[in-house]
Amino acid sequence: MQKPDLTPKDYADILNNVPEGLFYRFPLCLVNGVPLMKHIAEQWEGVEKFQARPDDILIATYPKAGTTWMQEIVDSIMNNGELEKNKRAPTHVRSPFLEICSPPPVPSGVDILNNTPSPRLVKTHLPFKLVPESFWEHKCKTIYVARNAKDNAVSYYFFDRMNKTQPDPGTWDQYVERFLTGEIAWGSWFDHVIGWWNAKDKHDVLYMFYEDMKEDPKREIRKVMKFLGKNFSEEVLDKICQHTNFKAMKENPMANYSTVPNMLLDQNLSPFMRKGEVADWMNYFTESQNKMFNMEYEKRMKGTDLKFRTNI
Ligand code: A3P
Repeated sequence: MQKPDLTPKDYADILNNVPEGLFYRFPLCLVNGVPLMKHIAEQWEGVEKFQARPDDILIATYPKAGTTWMQEIVDSIMNNGELEKNKRAPTHVRSPFLEICSPPPVPSGVDILNNTPSPRLVKTHLPFKLVPESFWEHKCKTIYVARNAKDNAVSYYFFDRMNKTQPDPGTWDQYVERFLTGEIAWGSWFDHVIGWWNAKDKHDVLYMFYEDMKEDPKREIRKVMKFLGKNFSEEVLDKICQHTNFKAMKENPMANYSTVPNMLLDQNLSPFMRKGEVADWMNYFTESQNKMFNMEYEKRMKGTDLKFRTNI
């Protein structure tokens, strides 16, 4: 018999009571050439052999591309717009993070997912080549969200400062270089967005863009709704738009990661719901960083028809 959901209280209790020193800025180790946090690399076999179920919905992103936003949208759709149901638990319990591993007693993403009743909303930041094969054997529906590289880099920089389990990002100048070389957790943005772009033609993957979602949320939510085989009235769609807008999610304790202790995510340094905008990169890139970034970008994106907007 399937065990019940890990309750939000169970999870909060575990995180709030971990021994001092359990969490620190974990170093990165390569898994098939992709840098991942040490504990993920050490427990990789469990991730690789993960058993997907045919009705799993996979939400895949490069970190900071709009994962949490899409998780809230998909949960709202799966709850048929009965948004009270979204309040049952914080994002990371409603939609567990497949590959995440911390030292015991914190349960791994795989452990949590194995104890989650179907239909499961599975979050991953894995590049396509590292996704467990069982998702494709079962033809699982997958939603990928991509965000333009410059805004993605800025968002990730602030996140790496506040996430006390990821390597220190250093200065912004150093970070821009590391982002381009892919020496950060989950590796190269280029490999990620292109790998998934190519995968969408072979699997049941809906490829979404953060910029499109900002431009016209209702249009984009409708796309996701149709992909998931649902059909709602305009009124229900409007309700979901309202529930998943930046301001509403920033104020929603079940979506803004405020239930995760500060020693893990230090929201005094930078809020998880930081700005939620397109083109914030303009506030951080110097002229020379922008020039260098554009040159490398052109080289790396040559040969793909994948196009991004850095402004809307
Ligand atoms: P910023 O740091 O640019 O503000 P992820 O969920 O993948 O970690 O991505 C986090 C980024 O998405 C953050 O970007 C966050 O503010 C933004 N975000 C989260 N919810 C959003 C929403 N409802 N609308 C727009 N952006 C949102």
